[in-house]
Amino acid sequence: MALPALFDRLRLPVIGSPLFIISGPELVIAQCKAGIVGSFPALNARPQSQLDEWLHRITEELAAWDRDHPDTPAAPFAVNQIVHRSNPRLEEDVATCAKWKVPIVITSLGARPELNDAVHGWGGITLHDVIDDRFAHKAVEKGADGLILVAAGAGGHAGRLSPFALVQEVREWFDGPVALSGSIATGGAILAAQAMGADLAYIGSPFIATDEANAIAAYKQAIVDGRAEDIVYSNLFTGVHGNYLRASIVNAGLDPENLPESDPSAMNFGGAKAWKDIWGSGQGIGAVHAVEPAGARVARLAEEYAAARARLAL
Ligand SMILES: Cc1cc2nc3c(=O)[nH]c(=O)nc-3n(C[C@H](O)[C@H](O)[C@H](O)COP(=O)(O)O)c2cc1C
Repeated sequence: MALPALFDRLRLPVIGSPLFIISGPELVIAQCKAGIVGSFPALNARPQSQLDEWLHRITEELAAWDRDHPDTPAAPFAVNQIVHRSNPRLEEDVATCAKWKVPIVITSLGARPELNDAVHGWGGITLHDVIDDRFAHKAVEKGADGLILVAAGAGGHAGRLSPFALVQEVREWFDGPVALSGSIATGGAILAAQAMGADLAYIGSPFIATDEANAIAAYKQAIVDGRAEDIVYSNLFTGVHGNYLRASIVNAGLDPENLPESDPSAMNFGGAKAWKDIWGSGQGIGAVHAVEPAGARVARLAEEYAAARARLAL
């Protein structure tokens, strides 16, 4: 099935994935201007009224860009909604997204038909993130337009399945839009995701080490310095298994080799807070060698992507 028309504006088949605390208007606008989908979690805008301000700013700045650059219009943007009972803002946040007719809504941690209907009502599309084929079926049954397959090695809450296994299972029955995530950090890996059967690569951790990311310098540098072996998979910090930078766990006074199983009542470990002090990251960061503007990172990915296509004579 062809991708929805709004993806025609992409200069590279990539979604810059939503990053708790880290992604806001600066990063999203830079990603969209560079030609990839930029996204942010609605919950990053605090208080709730800030969501309206952010969407206003993103919409206006991208419209101004389009007026000035008719040959290279901005890619569409996405807002991530946490569709879980624990999110008391969901209804208000969806209403704010309706006001601004957000083109793409990424839903996580729960699939709800009424949310998909609401997004369709204003002409948007929904992409739901899943870690296995069972959740993929549920998401599509409940009306999601597309799927984000979160494979092993992804930053933040990550799956356990090989991307090869996950994509092939889903592609046996689903021909709608599929984005693949988990350690994608080079242009060659973007092309590989497409070769496997995905339409888009979903990239998070490399964008932490960009000028526009809302992260402290030490976190950005840890992404630059880190490699796959520096990533620890644990459910201690949020109750859900995820990938984190070893150095941040050590800084919190914990032994990364001997982490206890999660205690759902805790989000605080000797004063260290998940996400703020315990730093999420995928395994793909060995490919990140500098903190640079997001646009430069996208340009580099695009060059590598073109080189990979040429190497394969595509
Ligand atoms: C620090 C961090 C925060 C994240 N926050 C969110 C979030 O709020 N919502 C969400 O759907 N995914 C979140 N993710 C997951 C990413 O959207 C995406 O699945 C992941 O970054 C892809 O893997 P990669 O980091 O290896 O590219 C987060 C990931 C990281 C590293």
